[in-house]
Amino acid sequence: MNYFYAKLTSRLPQSDLKNKRVLLRADCNVPISKGLIKNDFRLRALLPTLRFIIEKKGRIVIATHLGRPKKQEPEFSTRQLIPWFEKNNLHLEFAQTIDEAKKSTAQIVLLENLRFFAGELNNDADFAKALASCGDYYVCDAFGTVHRNHASLTQTPLYFSPQYRTIGFLIEREIKALNKLLDNPAQPFLVLLGGNKIETKLPLIKSLLEQDASIFLLPALVFTFLAAQNKEAGKSLIDENELAAAKKLLDDKKTKEKLLFPIDYLIADNDANGQLSFFKADTFPADGYGISVGPETVSLVTQKIASARSIFFNAAVGFKERPETLLPINKILSALAQSNAYTVIGGGDSVEYAFDAGVAEQIKFLSTGGGAALAYLSKADLPGLDPFITQSGKS
Ligand code: 3PG
Repeated sequence: MNYFYAKLTSRLPQSDLKNKRVLLRADCNVPISKGLIKNDFRLRALLPTLRFIIEKKGRIVIATHLGRPKKQEPEFSTRQLIPWFEKNNLHLEFAQTIDEAKKSTAQIVLLENLRFFAGELNNDADFAKALASCGDYYVCDAFGTVHRNHASLTQTPLYFSPQYRTIGFLIEREIKALNKLLDNPAQPFLVLLGGNKIETKLPLIKSLLEQDASIFLLPALVFTFLAAQNKEAGKSLIDENELAAAKKLLDDKKTKEKLLFPIDYLIADNDANGQLSFFKADTFPADGYGISVGPETVSLVTQKIASARSIFFNAAVGFKERPETLLPINKILSALAQSNAYTVIGGGDSVEYAFDAGVAEQIKFLSTGGGAALAYLSKADLPGLDPFITQSGKS
């Protein structure tokens, strides 16, 4: 397949890690509330790499970000992750500074939140170099963050020669799983796409159309496409900045045929908190705020799911604060869980919806990537993966 990262594999099995220090850039950015981890899916996905390094008698310095701290607040400290590691029999020492991490002789060291260090987001070369001094090897397994151009991801690895830097098993698994949607996916290929951040979805639509996907547009994304055709979308969320791009896609006859639209909607009166009713698409009220889809669309999507052989789902539709608005998407998620197709869910919120709906275990692949998974499927540049393609280049 013609995508620079598609053939990346981990060099860990060929590496002699005995008594070596491995700097592991992980993405342990998990939801935490009042000190408790709400979902450890991303941490569990890291276990094969951790266990492998330990088995090979390597030492590990885990470096991760956690949330988007404005300053060094305890609620963003990686200390909160310690009980999880302990529970999984991974005893570690906590290092507040890079110096402490460097000096530690413990088998596993957990560094404080990378975003507590100004150099991480500023992509500072001195910070990147100091961090590199914690390891003899550099392993990146932070799939969820490879779309970011931050020091620990893009500069630190370059302080290691190519045979001493590699991706880990989590990223290898992600690449293999997502490649199946980019390289002759089993047909029919159905994509269920909704949510906000439409600027990240348009490149994805273009990329998946190349794979002959049919793309079912769901709220809130669909409202910008309605507006682009001068169709009524009431007071729904519309991204004015992306209207022209949406229109351009719709102007292409072949593309338009592959874009599918809901036939009815769940609409709130006036704003997101308003009274809920179902409306047919052609009776969308001018003062309605579109939230989800209606029963006819749910049954249409369910039929499409039943006949598809590959399905990608990124559609966090409905509001958690109003559980009744989640019913349509939960029905769609249940149909996805029962499908025999190769089913993939990507995008942080979408994966969370699958867990909340109790169907996560029945989905063939859940990506640990939010924006990163969408960027990968869009065949975008992923700065955090670039250090590993030095030999083949981006030809
Ligand atoms: C994520 O959760 O999407 C990643 O951990 C990246 O986090 P960020 O969006 O704060 O950079």
